[in-house]
Amino acid sequence: MSVSELFDSSSATSPQPESITIRRPDDWHVHVRDGEMMKAVLPFTVAQFARGIIMPNLTPPVTTVEAAYRERILAALPEGADFTPLMTCYLTDHTDPDEIERGYRDGVWLAAKLYPAGATTNAHFGVTDIPALAPVFERMEKIGMAVLVHGEAVDPEVDIFDREQVFMEESLLPLLKRHPGLKVVIEHATTMETLDIVREHQARAACTITAHHLVINRTSIFQGGLRPHLYCLPVAKREKHRLALRKAATSGDSCFMLGTDTAPHPRRNKQAECCSAGIFSGATALQTYVQVFDEEGALGKFEAFASLNGARFHGLEPNAGTITLVKKPSMALASVPVDGEDVVVFQGGQLLPWSIAAE
Ligand code: DOR
Ligand code: ZN
Repeated sequence: MSVSELFDSSSATSPQPESITIRRPDDWHVHVRDGEMMKAVLPFTVAQFARGIIMPNLTPPVTTVEAAYRERILAALPEGADFTPLMTCYLTDHTDPDEIERGYRDGVWLAAKLYPAGATTNAHFGVTDIPALAPVFERMEKIGMAVLVHGEAVDPEVDIFDREQVFMEESLLPLLKRHPGLKVVIEHATTMETLDIVREHQARAACTITAHHLVINRTSIFQGGLRPHLYCLPVAKREKHRLALRKAATSGDSCFMLGTDTAPHPRRNKQAECCSAGIFSGATALQTYVQVFDEEGALGKFEAFASLNGARFHGLEPNAGTITLVKKPSMALASVPVDGEDVVVFQGGQLLPWSIAAE
């Protein structure tokens, strides 16, 4: 037998690769940026998802009712792409409840994003006093508009690995209590305690879970040396939290939804003296998520997490079309060129066991 025969996968006896077909999924948390970066990264999100909640943390952030950013996204879509950007408004200390309501009723934005001031990339225009924003939250409660929360304490004295937990105790739980009708999405949950809070409030609370937080823990960031491309906020936590996140995501429970938090930064800003927070998972997110569901023996729950739970939470119909993922190894692109530089891809340059089937 020749060597090529030994590796011939097309022989009649070899089994068909395992595959899964689900309704087209949505990414409930995505940074597509603007300008050249947007042109470079948007095609990857569009190839994976039918809709995406677009984060407003540009400089300056998206705070007023205007369609310009959405139009720039639509103009940057690849020819023939079927992708709907769902816009968000960036809350500041000066947000006007009337403006929030107007933007929501006119369909300009779906939700509002709450960044505690200084919590992460371009969050310095964020909210310094959450209780003081009560008039805005009351209005959102009334009109059924969700607030998407970056849940980390901003006091620099708080240990970075405790910032999510401290925020939940000091800010999120009181917010839920003060506004019992407010719909809340806790973004990119990273701890088992946050997952419990979401479960306890699931009548009106949910959380997004990223692909990278299902795969890496805090030790990964230091594996063999410092790995800047695995640094994001909230920072990955201990292994027990990663395992809890995998359990939650693959449970099928309707309060857990897909949100990649794909956050591209030029390599220069990552491999820097002061590394920017963010992981670019836009090109490999679905392959990573489906691998996790496969490893957990939960492929049957993948569609709920990726394509149904978020739509239901936001009162939208699930998407009409489907996407097929195949258990067939494919080499992930190492990086994406942008304007003479590049952005490193999460799991880039690795052989991933799952691929997106060609249409
Ligand atoms: O790691 C992160 N990067 N976390 C965030 O919350 C923001 C994001 C970004 O915009 O780069
Ligand atoms: Zn984000």
